[in-house]
Amino acid sequence: MNNLVLLTIAILSLSSPFIQGFSSFQLPIRLPWDAPATSFLTPKSPIRPNDKVVIFGATGGVGQLVTKKLLLKGYKVCVVARDEDKARGLLLDEGDGDDIKSCLEVAQLNLVGDGKASDEELQEIMKDANAIVISVGTTAFPTTRWSNGNTPQAIDCDAVSRIANLATSISNDVSKSSLRRIVLLTSVGVTRTNEMPFKILNLFGVLDAKRSGEDAVKAACGKANVSYSIIRPGRLVGGPYTNLDLAKLFQIEGGAENGVTLQYGDALLGDCKRDACAEGVVQALENESCVDVEFSVISNEEKALSTGEWGEAFEGMRR
Ligand SMILES: NC(=O)c1ccc[n+]([C@@H]2O[C@H](COP(=O)([O-])OP(=O)(O)OC[C@H]3O[C@@H](n4cnc5c(N)ncnc54)[C@H](OP(=O)(O)O)[C@@H]3O)[C@@H](O)[C@H]2O)c1
Repeated sequence: MNNLVLLTIAILSLSSPFIQGFSSFQLPIRLPWDAPATSFLTPKSPIRPNDKVVIFGATGGVGQLVTKKLLLKGYKVCVVARDEDKARGLLLDEGDGDDIKSCLEVAQLNLVGDGKASDEELQEIMKDANAIVISVGTTAFPTTRWSNGNTPQAIDCDAVSRIANLATSISNDVSKSSLRRIVLLTSVGVTRTNEMPFKILNLFGVLDAKRSGEDAVKAACGKANVSYSIIRPGRLVGGPYTNLDLAKLFQIEGGAENGVTLQYGDALLGDCKRDACAEGVVQALENESCVDVEFSVISNEEKALSTGEWGEAFEGMRR
């Protein structure tokens, strides 16, 4: 009798955790009313409707196009700009409705020099970002754009590194941040500074500075389990013409189509339409396959890639 009681107690105590475990177990079957598979979030998932993207360099040529594309798609966009009025003037069109206007937030901050944004100010802006786009830059050779210390070292390396480190240090605390992706624009030639024409372009260190910025982004993302995309475009052509170069002087459009040639690493040389480049940024944010990639991009005369084709190209670039 005693043995029977003991046996019953033993069976009950063994089966109870099993029963509890079973009750919380969910069958891997998706019912019609469940969300689609793409809604399962991982730390490196692409952005999804209503996500917030913070953009540095949104008043620049590529940055303007990226911002407008994201606003049209309904994302919440926060741009960090040195001049709020200029940013709103460039980024909102006359016909934009309240739905688009309400999705744009502008934070007026400088990233360099006296009065540059504090770490706290930058963290406050990035704390609820799901993705960050960095498309900042200055001229490769000394011009008035270097005033107040805005050199390639200051903006392409120091500011970019600071953004990446601050953004991912918030994200280390998963309860406070939902950052999943950082997309950084640099340039072809960052690993080929001993070759022409990059030797000339790098005379004042712009490619070295961009390369250091890339390294900082990759290291910060690696530590925080956030996905990075490093996009290295060729010479930028097509509007908006924001640079003081021949492409602006001669208004070089770069063809009617948005076709692109993409290659892993730093392997291409040629022109890249700003609009095609901006599309690449949006794809890097939205495409499931674009996880931890670095690639160069130039334009070609073919049709723009479909989302699936971008995805296949990204798959081939993952290392
Ligand atoms: N031009 C080319 O042929 C070429 C080729 C390859 C790669 N790239 C690179 O591709 C990227 C995008 O090019 P783009 O032509 O679109 O650039 P861009 O028009 O020169 O825009 C640069 C952006 O950086 C912002 N910025 C500069 N210094 C800043 C500071 N101290 N604080 C805050 N923001 C600052 C600018 O803001 P403001 O409006 O306030 O100046 C602007 O929004 C850049 O990294 C560029 O270097 C360019």
